[in-house]
Amino acid sequence: MSVDSVLFSPAALASPLTGPLTPVHPADHIPGWWRSAVIYQVYPRSFRDLNGDGIGDLAGITAELPRLAELDIDAVWLSPFYRSPQRDAGYDVSDYCDVDPLFGSLGDFDAMMAEATRLGMRVIVDLVPNHCSDQHPAFQAALTAPAGSPERDMFIFRDGRGAFGEEPPNNWQSHFGGSAWTRITEPDGAPGQWYLHLFDSSQPDFNWDSRAVHDEFERVLRFWLDRGVSGFRVDVAHALVKAPGLPEWGGRADGSSSDGFPGRDAPMFGQPALHDIYRQWRRILAEYGPDRILCAEANVDPLPRLADWVRPDEMHQAFNFPYLHAGLDVHRMRHVITESLTSLDAVAAPSTWVLSNHDVVRHATRFGYHGHAPRDGDGIGTWDPQPDEDLGRSRAAAASLFMLGLPGGAYLYQGEELGLPDGIDIPDTQRQDPTFARTGGARLGRDGCRIPLPWRAGEPNAGFGHGQDPWLPQPESFARLARDVQAASSSSHLSLYKRMLELRRRLDLGRGSLSWYEDLCTDTSLAFLNGSTLVLLNVGSEPLELPAGRMLLRSSTPPEAGYDAGDMAGAGDPLGSGETVWLEIYIEDTEG
Ligand code: GLC
Ligand code: CA
Repeated sequence: MSVDSVLFSPAALASPLTGPLTPVHPADHIPGWWRSAVIYQVYPRSFRDLNGDGIGDLAGITAELPRLAELDIDAVWLSPFYRSPQRDAGYDVSDYCDVDPLFGSLGDFDAMMAEATRLGMRVIVDLVPNHCSDQHPAFQAALTAPAGSPERDMFIFRDGRGAFGEEPPNNWQSHFGGSAWTRITEPDGAPGQWYLHLFDSSQPDFNWDSRAVHDEFERVLRFWLDRGVSGFRVDVAHALVKAPGLPEWGGRADGSSSDGFPGRDAPMFGQPALHDIYRQWRRILAEYGPDRILCAEANVDPLPRLADWVRPDEMHQAFNFPYLHAGLDVHRMRHVITESLTSLDAVAAPSTWVLSNHDVVRHATRFGYHGHAPRDGDGIGTWDPQPDEDLGRSRAAAASLFMLGLPGGAYLYQGEELGLPDGIDIPDTQRQDPTFARTGGARLGRDGCRIPLPWRAGEPNAGFGHGQDPWLPQPESFARLARDVQAASSSSHLSLYKRMLELRRRLDLGRGSLSWYEDLCTDTSLAFLNGSTLVLLNVGSEPLELPAGRMLLRSSTPPEAGYDAGDMAGAGDPLGSGETVWLEIYIEDTEG
């Protein structure tokens, strides 16, 4: 029996589900495409290299967009492709309104936009407003202008401490390691002021107390809105405004809470004046209609504070990093999901869910350990315990099927639909993340999750590009995992993604409700009801008994290994260790 023929026929189903439910979140009827959207992150330099220089390009994205359309996603989000010296893979922008020649031209961008539109996908671009490149004309002008000038006022310049100004103005640390301050040489050759950079020294922070900075970014927003983008993913959205006087901070550089240093006290994050900036941006977006959105990369701690970023007149969405970091710990997952939905419902904002991006170890690798992965950011090395790739991939499938059953929006990172692992064996000389150099190699950095994608197994570089070697070496397993190989197999990771994304849309799970199904929430399993779909994850080492008489909609295990969509789960049918299923539940109409 095929799933399609019985999906909406409750007659095929058995008795109503019994057992206690804990309601958390009602179905969402508020208009807005993004509220339930699946948005796919494209990391341009690693997507597809069409001109053969070893680095992905916009023409490569255009060429492969039809493959993404097969995934039934709503939008793509592109990491930066703007003019940049590429010191932080494009997050160091020297011209916000142009394409870096490495990736193509504005004409290539327009062609990509047109193709996405033709295929029914929206495009979201990355906006990097906390800092620019030290090669940006505004920063170059600040270097040659005197202390106290309007040019310097666009950035955060201060005199140093100590008798000769030889000490940095405060103790803030860079995310990438080392001090967050660099001293300049003044135009007359004398050692001079210091400028703040929360990231690499090539990424000076803007001063958001300066009107000129506001004006510049309002221009940038309009530039890309005029070119048809549906919105912006806002880089380190919580960092733009710094506390007056730049007070010392002994907590973590990324602002997450540590002993004695709650993240909410960090003077460089989450300052109240930020919210006025986003209100103003939202007004600008609204001039272009109701469909343009802002998504915050706001790493705030604790989670309920995230709701402040998505109040009705601010951003539309924020990334849910606590969910990413919850791993497969069912207690943490439940806590994060409940807290996210409850706090975001209070401001009528949708939640988002994410498992991977270009800054963390891919989830197929993180889940390839029986205990904890050695790290979830900053890369795994050859001397670390090595992941079990097959285990990681099958648990990644379970984690993704669980996530895509949740109500709200979801973000996917390129290559996760192929179950790609991180690259681990990268020669030091090829590592490009500034974290590696700034920590003397102590932190490997994020190159491992940024390896160029495999498209076609039989082609050079697994079809990433036909010319020079890819900018990072592809692991040996990439050819086996190439998209064309997976597209030809109904039991592949890619086929699972296609099936679950298609059904998620058909059942409108993104707009659905969530109630915990307590009987199956144990120390090693987690179950919730979204409408009439029961989503069940088993992370225990033992199989779990499925509730009898339910129809199987999707399983994270390939059909031939378990049972197939449309099968009825009988009493005693087991859900294996590290598996997720979606089951169709008959709900009794209690209102009639
Ligand atoms: C964000 C980006 C990261 C970048 C940093 C500085 O966290 O995701 O890749 O290095 O901001 O722009
Ligand atoms: Ca290229």
